Amino acid sequence: MQSYSLIAPGKINLYLEIIGDRPDGFHELVMILQSIELADRIDIKANDTQAITLHCHHPQVPADETNLAYRAAQLMCKTFPEVYANYGGVDISITKNVPVAAGLAGGSTDAAAVLVGINLMWGLGLTKPELEALAAKLGSDIPFCISGGTAIATGRGETLDPIPDLDHLWVILAKHRNISVSTPWAYKTYRQHYSKNYVSEPENIKIRRELVNSGALVSAITHQNSREIGNLLYNDLEKVVLPEYPLVAQVKSAFANCEVLGTMMSGSGPTVFALCESESQAKTVAEKVKKAIADPNLDFWVTKLSSGGIQLQVTH
Ligand code: C5P
Repeated sequence: MQSYSLIAPGKINLYLEIIGDRPDGFHELVMILQSIELADRIDIKANDTQAITLHCHHPQVPADETNLAYRAAQLMCKTFPEVYANYGGVDISITKNVPVAAGLAGGSTDAAAVLVGINLMWGLGLTKPELEALAAKLGSDIPFCISGGTAIATGRGETLDPIPDLDHLWVILAKHRNISVSTPWAYKTYRQHYSKNYVSEPENIKIRRELVNSGALVSAITHQNSREIGNLLYNDLEKVVLPEYPLVAQVKSAFANCEVLGTMMSGSGPTVFALCESESQAKTVAEKVKKAIADPNLDFWVTKLSSGGIQLQVTH
């Protein structure tokens, strides 16, 4: 049987607005999600046992069912028990390039790659919407990671409307090695402070979604207006994360003082990104901020926005 190698890109949030509470305990969101070229590599192959195994050299990546990629394989085995019994277990190997626990969907994209890879390896013929429905059972960002590109995400984040690709811009990512922000904490704290503004009536939720759909940022993306895109970046979670993590706020201020199109925290952080017109500009700004902050624990990556989700490479 073939083994498969998959490229699993990370993402940034160009826009993240929290609208209200959902009956399932999650938040009703409107986001604009954007794939980046920085990607993990996932290798999967069938083994002769009924076991799922996972290997990753990164010290912060667990090899058990606390890893979303492991849970993705478990979900496929549970959903298709006869195929699983026929083909046996799965060996998963993850080469980590996307920063871990960073607000860049690193764990989510690995899980998306495992769903796509097992679908191919077992010849299941699941369509993208069927894969996205399985992905939504594992986490809110995983459906987006399957097709990637540029999309408006609503509901928990799992309902997707693709918009024109935005792949001409470059992005600098900056993350402190020793800072991690708990996503449940960020949403819970936001609820404590801002739930008085939450909207609950379906009609009003629809209006808020429409405002984004027909709004200035989507229009700027459609017209590839880089300056406008940079000016209109938005993330509600900054309101709770930046005051609690001054080092993250410091990175954002440092980017804002440079020649960038715009800067924003991604997801629940702690990664801060800055958009640039070109690779050379991104590298110059990264060097400038590195020197200005002079913190050996602050890591930088320069990458490009991407129009792709999970991509396959057949190895043999
Ligand atoms: O779905 P995911 O596992 O990525 O979500 C992580 C946590 O983020 C959830 O347990 C929840 O606390 C919070 N969350 C939320 N509303 C969303 C997405 C995430 O409250 N739409």
